[in-house]
Amino acid sequence: VGDRGHRSPERDRHPVLLFFSHWVSLLGAGIVTTAVISWLLIQLGGMGQDNPYLGMLTALLIPAVFFIGLILMPLGFWLARRRGETAIVNRPFPWRRLAMFLGITTVANVLLATQFTYRAVEHLSTRQFCGQSCHVMLPQFRAAQVASHAKVDCVACHIAPGAEGFIAAKLAGTRQLYHVMRDSYPRPVPPALESGRLVPASQTCEHCHDRGNEIGNRLRVIPKYAADEANSLSYTVLLIHAGGGGSGIHGAHLNPDVRISFSAKDAMRQEIPWVRWRNQKTGEERLYTQKGAGPIPGGQAEIEMQCVDCHNRPAHTFESADAALNRALFSGEISPTLPGVKGKALELLTAEYPSQEEALRALPSRLAEHYKTNHAALYGSREAEIRRAGETIAAIYARNVFPDLNVKWGTYTDNRGHTASPGCFRCHGGDHSTAKGEALTGDCASCHEMPAMEEAAPEILKSLNLLK
Ligand code: HEC
Ligand code: HEC
Ligand code: HEC
Ligand code: HEC
Ligand code: HEC
Repeated sequence: VGDRGHRSPERDRHPVLLFFSHWVSLLGAGIVTTAVISWLLIQLGGMGQDNPYLGMLTALLIPAVFFIGLILMPLGFWLARRRGETAIVNRPFPWRRLAMFLGITTVANVLLATQFTYRAVEHLSTRQFCGQSCHVMLPQFRAAQVASHAKVDCVACHIAPGAEGFIAAKLAGTRQLYHVMRDSYPRPVPPALESGRLVPASQTCEHCHDRGNEIGNRLRVIPKYAADEANSLSYTVLLIHAGGGGSGIHGAHLNPDVRISFSAKDAMRQEIPWVRWRNQKTGEERLYTQKGAGPIPGGQAEIEMQCVDCHNRPAHTFESADAALNRALFSGEISPTLPGVKGKALELLTAEYPSQEEALRALPSRLAEHYKTNHAALYGSREAEIRRAGETIAAIYARNVFPDLNVKWGTYTDNRGHTASPGCFRCHGGDHSTAKGEALTGDCASCHEMPAMEEAAPEILKSLNLLK
């Protein structure tokens, strides 16, 4: 390269000679070439897209090998030069050529390395890396497939934006990997709020959702099927005052002037005896204390309320067996005209199984068996529907119960309502008040109207033409 016109044999051979005369730099060059070629091959083959292990190989192993090779090359160069000092004495060292060689290789390598790093970062941020490479998170991965954030990557809620968040997350991930390898990870994995690992909602949820958004009233229709022979359908209808701006549920807790903080007795934040409300503009402040709780103990941490204190299951929402079946019956995946199917499916789903594989085999066959023995004629004519119902309950089990990880029905609670777990009633149960006797509301209508409660044919649905 470069000054071809006036080359002298010794000077020309010098850097090349040094480079190739030591096995360490040759090894380095070999490793780098191999890494590059295998990376190219995987890219060309389009592999690693659906195989998490191949993905991990391209994301982690190949770059690591590549960088090792990269270090060996100059090392060999240096070793050769040191060795060569005695043999090739008094010869001027070709600095220009060396600089050119290093310059060109560095540019090429930096280009490649950025590609590698980019690929690696990209891969480490996919759902597939988070959920599939690691068996521990399989429950969250499966449950997330059906929730409203099914298309949102895990990292959007679990890693703070920027390099700092990425590094913190990967350090935590390395610790987790260590526990997985030693088989010492907790089963189930504790909720992220409990373990204190959740990135603040202001850095995640609020990047996509505007805190001041006016949502207004939300009509929620909740169909329920009874566990009787007819799978009798009834409806509960709620008109939820979700609000926003200055009003309703969002308005009360997300008003920019207001700060609500609380102290919990447990890490899961399920027992909340102390709630503080503060208007930062007017300086007004109220401390609500649960009946019989006494003053806040000294040194007790106060947690500022955020989105996830209500919406802790916006993704990987684990269902109750009852709610999951109601949904499947309402959508027709399980035919509601199969006699007693709700009751039987509920019984089968909530039974104990030694492993998920065992349950997924047993559920469809036991349901079929039930109809074969008790409704032989019906089984003959509607076998396909019964089989589909069996597959559906197996799918419900597959995304909610993981016996080997101790994830059972109800392991992970949802704080948004108050029927399956205390939720809103942790503060609004009717027994929190200030010293002056002002109470935190427990009035149904301040949160939602209830035009119908488990009615077969509610007027409101008739008038809206929403009755099935
Ligand atoms: C829309 C936001 C959001 C997305 C997307 C999301 N998570 Fe979560 N995740 C949360 C919140 C909030 C918690 C805390 C729940 C709690 O503490 O009750 C959590 C908790 C967890 C936990 C701790 C155990 C548990 O269930 O509480 C794991 C593990 C987890 N998430 C994995 C994942 C994986 C894997 C993905 C991608 C498939 C994912 N998350 C996607 C919001 C999200
Ligand atoms: C990457 C963007 C993104 C992030 C981050 C995100 N969301 Fe969402 N969220 C969405 C989108 C898009 C929808 C609408 C989905 C739909 O309508 O199917 C949605 C829907 C919702 C809904 C309404 C559906 C439901 O399940 O009731 C809630 C509540 C919600 N998000 C809360 C949260 C919370 C809490 C967080 C943080 C833990 C969060 N979101 C983080 C994009 C995001
Ligand atoms: C005090 C509890 C609480 C807090 C705090 C809270 N929400 Fe909500 N949010 C609710 C309730 C209740 C609903 C109505 C649920 C329903 O429709 O079933 C709701 C509804 C929503 C919806 C659905 C709107 C729609 O169009 O259906 C989104 C999105 C949402 N919240 C996002 C957020 C975000 C983001 C934050 C934090 C900035 C937040 N919420 C804080 C209780 C809360
Ligand atoms: C950590 C405690 C806490 C939790 C949990 C909580 N809230 Fe609140 N809520 C408050 C505080 C504090 C206020 C404001 C009281 C005041 O104005 O002095 C409030 C106010 C309200 C108001 C306005 C009441 C009124 O009289 O105007 C509504 C409605 C409400 N909350 C609904 C909910 C709903 C729905 C949930 C569950 C999704 C919920 N809250 C969960 C603490 C909480
Ligand atoms: C602090 C606010 C708040 C108060 C007070 C409140 N609720 Fe609710 N309620 C909610 C929220 C939030 C939901 C869940 C809505 C959703 O599914 O997103 C809910 C859900 C329900 C449901 C439906 C549960 C289901 O899924 O089947 C019923 C029934 C209900 N409430 C009855 C009542 C009754 C009766 C009262 C009065 C004694 C009451 N609630 C008081 C906030 C409240």
